[in-house]
Amino acid sequence: MSTHLQDHQDAALRALEQSAGADGLEAWRIEWLGSKGRLKGLMGDIKDVAKEDRKAFGQALNSLKGALEAAFEQRKAKGETAPSRLMDITEPSGGERAGRRHIITRTIDDMLDVFGRMGFTPVTGPELEDERHNFTALNVPEAHPAREPTDNFYLGDGRMLRSQTSTVQIRVLDHTPPPVRIVAAGRVYRPDTHDATHYSMFHQVEGLYVDRNVTIVDLKSTLLAFARAYFGSDAEVRMRPSFFPFTEPSAEVDMKMKIKGKWQWIELGGCGMVDPNVLQEVGIDPEEWTGFAFGLGVERIAMRRYGIGDIRWMFENDERFLRRF
Ligand code: DAH
Repeated sequence: MSTHLQDHQDAALRALEQSAGADGLEAWRIEWLGSKGRLKGLMGDIKDVAKEDRKAFGQALNSLKGALEAAFEQRKAKGETAPSRLMDITEPSGGERAGRRHIITRTIDDMLDVFGRMGFTPVTGPELEDERHNFTALNVPEAHPAREPTDNFYLGDGRMLRSQTSTVQIRVLDHTPPPVRIVAAGRVYRPDTHDATHYSMFHQVEGLYVDRNVTIVDLKSTLLAFARAYFGSDAEVRMRPSFFPFTEPSAEVDMKMKIKGKWQWIELGGCGMVDPNVLQEVGIDPEEWTGFAFGLGVERIAMRRYGIGDIRWMFENDERFLRRF
């Protein structure tokens, strides 16, 4: 082999030895053995070689190629597990981003903070529930359509994934004598085809206040105080008559908020005065105690507040989305 080619071989083998990691190895392969690599370049030089030397030059090139390929295969077979000794651990990293609370967690924290200032104590309840807490004690009759197997995740052993955080009302009232003022946030589950506004898991914030002389005026002023603290001092609350088995009377809650400069009524959940049947079920005398309850959809609030167009984005953990907040 000509000394010229020998120099190339030495340089290539040295570079191979120093290449770090699978990426480094691949970069070496491309540089030396690739279709536009240095070996190809040397082969092109053959036209400048005197005719009588061409055969020898060609053979030398072939042996160089064989040597490089063999060295490459050998190196590859050894694998790359240990970090290369050439890694410079003092080099600045490429700008690590700090983790942060998820947009749902932040919305819940902010909501609990507002209700906390109004005297509501945060509590939690299990996501795996039974039908008594999810339906029966909440005055939902056996034949009620909300119990349909197609609308709930039943485990088949009497347990289910809760479909609403109203379960926590029963969890608390079963063991706590009034006055009670709690707020409960958490996940709920309903079979649903996923689209921009539906997901089979979402979050609710549930509030419950039971005391002497609690009236619907207290309910409305609590929701209004929340709306103004959370959405701004111009926010409004509207209650539209509705029906829920566990409240009487019942209403849908709308809040008026400014979205992209325009005022809009947005439906955020349900509310009402705790049905006497519910109080009786947990051993509280409805003649002495009254209460109100409400349940608000967290995703709806977060989507409106932060201009999020698709509920699925919140659970896909795409970094480009997460980084926005
Ligand atoms: N649990 C109801 C739902 O998921 C929302 C709700 C309505 C909660 C009225 C309440 C209430 O506490 O009083 O649709």
